[in-house]
Amino acid sequence: MKAMIVTLPGDGVGPEVTAVAVAVLNAVAEQYGHEFTFKEHLMGGCAIDATGEPLPAATLTACKSADAVLLGAVGGPKWSDPNAEVRPEQGLLGLRAALGVYANLRPLVVHPALAALSPLKADRLEAVDVLFVRELTGGAYFGAKTRSADTATDECKYTTAEVERVARRAFELARGRRKHLTSVDKANVLETSRLWRSTVTRVAADYPDVTLEHQLVDSMAMLLLARPGHYDVVVTENLFGDILTDEAAAIAGSLGLLPSASLGEGKLGIYEPIHGSAPDIAGKGLADPVGTILSAALLLRHSLDLEMEAAAIEAAVGEVLAQGPHTRDLGGNASTRDVCGAVLANLQRAAAPVVSRAQRAFG
Ligand code: NAD
Ligand code: IPM
Ligand code: MN
Repeated sequence: MKAMIVTLPGDGVGPEVTAVAVAVLNAVAEQYGHEFTFKEHLMGGCAIDATGEPLPAATLTACKSADAVLLGAVGGPKWSDPNAEVRPEQGLLGLRAALGVYANLRPLVVHPALAALSPLKADRLEAVDVLFVRELTGGAYFGAKTRSADTATDECKYTTAEVERVARRAFELARGRRKHLTSVDKANVLETSRLWRSTVTRVAADYPDVTLEHQLVDSMAMLLLARPGHYDVVVTENLFGDILTDEAAAIAGSLGLLPSASLGEGKLGIYEPIHGSAPDIAGKGLADPVGTILSAALLLRHSLDLEMEAAAIEAAVGEVLAQGPHTRDLGGNASTRDVCGAVLANLQRAAAPVVSRAQRAFG
């Protein structure tokens, strides 16, 4: 198939990990006979430096006409002055809103070979397989903001329509998994959470085959560590989802491992690792590219319907996690490029029997 993918490498380690994911997608295209065209655009701090804006119009136009968007990370100390007029992160938020990608899927699995890297004891890690569905275009991230000399506010607003669509997505996803949905809120304090809880409860009537439980976010932060194996699909609002998924990444062993898919109503999605621009290791070739490579697999699965190819990437990554090479965050001393090379080699090895079968048939 033919597909146009916009890449937004961004800042810090963003370009380093994006380059690896593009190399992996190119290898998949060649092996499976697809034609992927990549168009690179500016977003984030690099876009501010070049154009004064974090999300230039040309970038947004390109993303809107793409089949999928692959993103590295944005931000960094250079643009982090709390008094700055414009910030890289505004570009990312603007893009998510403009593309209407309200459901951010963040899967957590623990690879057995990495169990020792988890802060949790091995027995807690058995059967950990959680899919977080983070609401991505509402809440405090997008409410009105005010600032005076001694006061600041961030409005947190949700409509029933916003809650309902992400809840339905989470119920649908739970249906395809273990049919257990945990909705996380702060309904004992926040009015938005009470609207959230009653909306999710109402929607649940349409999914009688899915078991629904509600959990307050503070105890959820604890329970996620105490019994991560209990959870199947977890749906929550924007800010809670941001925080809980970085916590989830620690369970897996590194923030560098977790991918994400941001989806709306159509096929177009944004795919990015959940980590940031990692300024402390940027430019050194130390970044773990696994979260971005796995995001490329999600891109194939959700935007292009290429399930076999997505699974091939996941298998190739799984082998690297099992056998190495490992970057420093995983206790190894391999570079970003070493991991890239190993994933490409695994992909090729896995495809080899297919090629030889074809050769036998035609030769
Ligand atoms: P961060 O995720 O960039 O880094 C946190 C820690 O995790 C650092 O020690 C970093 O080295 C490590 N880390 C992150 N990704 C890694 C990888 N792939 N391999 C190995 N180690 C990795 O979070 P931060 O330091 O709080 O934020 C830095 C900047 O990134 C901020 O400007 C923030 O706004 C931005 N950010 C952007 C995104 C995004 O673009 N989607 C996401 C999160 C943070
Ligand atoms: C993420 C990031 C972003 C968020 C920032 C950079 C705006 O932390 O994708 O998790 O908070 O959504
Ligand atoms: Mn985050």
